[in-house]
Amino acid sequence: MVAGKTREERWSLAGVTALVTGGSKGIGHAIVEELAEFGARVHTCSRNAAELEACRQRWEEKGLQVTVSVCDVSVPADRESLMATVKANFGGKLDILVNNAGQSLFKLAAESTSDDYTRIMATNLESCFHLSQLAHPLLLASGIGGSVVHISSIAGFIGLPALAIYSMTKGAMNQLTRSLATEWAHDGIRVNCIAPGGVKTDISSDKTIDPELVKKEMARVPMGRIAEPEEVASMVAFLCMPAASYMTGQVICIDGGRTIT
Ligand SMILES: NC(=O)c1ccc[n+]([C@@H]2O[C@H](COP(=O)([O-])OP(=O)(O)OC[C@H]3O[C@@H](n4cnc5c(N)ncnc54)[C@H](OP(=O)(O)O)[C@@H]3O)[C@@H](O)[C@H]2O)c1
Repeated sequence: MVAGKTREERWSLAGVTALVTGGSKGIGHAIVEELAEFGARVHTCSRNAAELEACRQRWEEKGLQVTVSVCDVSVPADRESLMATVKANFGGKLDILVNNAGQSLFKLAAESTSDDYTRIMATNLESCFHLSQLAHPLLLASGIGGSVVHISSIAGFIGLPALAIYSMTKGAMNQLTRSLATEWAHDGIRVNCIAPGGVKTDISSDKTIDPELVKKEMARVPMGRIAEPEEVASMVAFLCMPAASYMTGQVICIDGGRTIT
């Protein structure tokens, strides 16, 4: 609730706690920095210990409060131990969960294997559902109302070739957002989702993407460019602030206008 809060308090994350998955690179890295720069204490994870430690050191030098641990979000036992670490770090409560870690797969549906299906489903969708479940008691313990943000994709709304499995996970994350928002509103937990279009990261520079498809796609983006990771991170910060206290169950496209063409 915002009643009685000053503007400064409504647009702040001072003192709140956050878990952001996949913070060593790309969009997740920008989200960690944005939340921490607004005053949050953040925990993040990825599969690469050396990269995570290098990030942690850079964040420490900038005066940001960020802790890290290795976790493969596609592995249920890793998800359990990630949440146990978060619980211990933040004194049994959590204010913000950002389900960002994800992988793409540019492959025709007819050529995709059952291993492809299992890996992408576990990494993008099952992790999002299970981490939300595991975080629920910690979000309930948040004295200020918890906030969950999923990072899906416009691929969950529109048909794109060679992205069937990936797009299925993102479409399901959009629906999971609405389902959890409905179930958890009475717990004071808001659940929203951001669906980016192309963002400048390792995923969008993947050499397996057909260059012709990229050209065609870019021609359909009114703003004529892809996003910087920071342009996604700013929306995550807003959704987690008291300023967004009446927003829940929404899927917000950050796509330079791609989905309106
Ligand atoms: N870039 C785009 O154009 C775009 C567009 C729409 C949506 N998205 C979504 O945005 C999210 C972030 O993507 P990005 O572009 O920032 O990708 P990225 O640059 O490849 O970064 C992905 C991050 O997630 C981590 N990660 C990947 N698999 C993981 C796993 N199994 N367990 C734990 N961490 C894992 C990576 O670290 P490790 O690999 O070292 O584990 C890295 O920190 C994804 O959900 C993606 O689908 C991206």
